[in-house]
Amino acid sequence: MTSKLKNPKVLISQSRANKKVKELARKISRNYKGKKLVLVGVLKGAFVFMADLLREITIPLEIDFIQVSSYGASKTSSGVIKIKKDIDLPIVGKNVLLVEDIIDYGYTLDYLIRFLKAKKAKSVGVCVMLDKPARRRVEVPLAYKGFEVPDKFMVGYGLDFAEKFRNLPYVGCLSS
Ligand code: IMP
Ligand code: MG
Repeated sequence: MTSKLKNPKVLISQSRANKKVKELARKISRNYKGKKLVLVGVLKGAFVFMADLLREITIPLEIDFIQVSSYGASKTSSGVIKIKKDIDLPIVGKNVLLVEDIIDYGYTLDYLIRFLKAKKAKSVGVCVMLDKPARRRVEVPLAYKGFEVPDKFMVGYGLDFAEKFRNLPYVGCLSS
């Protein structure tokens, strides 16, 4: 491992991330007040963001997780999405908010929105921590989004490169 890989450059500090999470949670609490809300986190990357976000949301909610095929140890998407772990909760007539770490090409969220709508959710919205718009291939409506990031590989705050760096408390980027 090179030294560059050992010390990703800090892009979004822990305190900036925390502030943004609070802001997003406030909006979500306001917009879903009185509605049946289910947060669906996309494993594994979203688990840190999800854990922080849900503790700032002040309205009742249910949570579940879904997992799709990932990039593996590569930095680019194959565009072929497969469900590895489906949700367990029934979502018929409920308002689903997909919680995701990052959107890049957009294939993953586009697929998941359609997948969950097919289960007859009342609505399917998206809350994403990081938006990397440079390489978008499919348009995905992002109701709640944290930060726009440059076309670099992000790690930390749940995001990995080959399963490393998920435990960094900040968002960093790899410079290669
Ligand atoms: P998309 O289908 O290209 O939008 O890919 C989104 C998924 O790819 C995310 O759920 C991440 O798991 C992964 N991903 C995309 N960009 C990055 C990155 O910069 N760092 C880590 N994972 C990423
Ligand atoms: Mg992911």
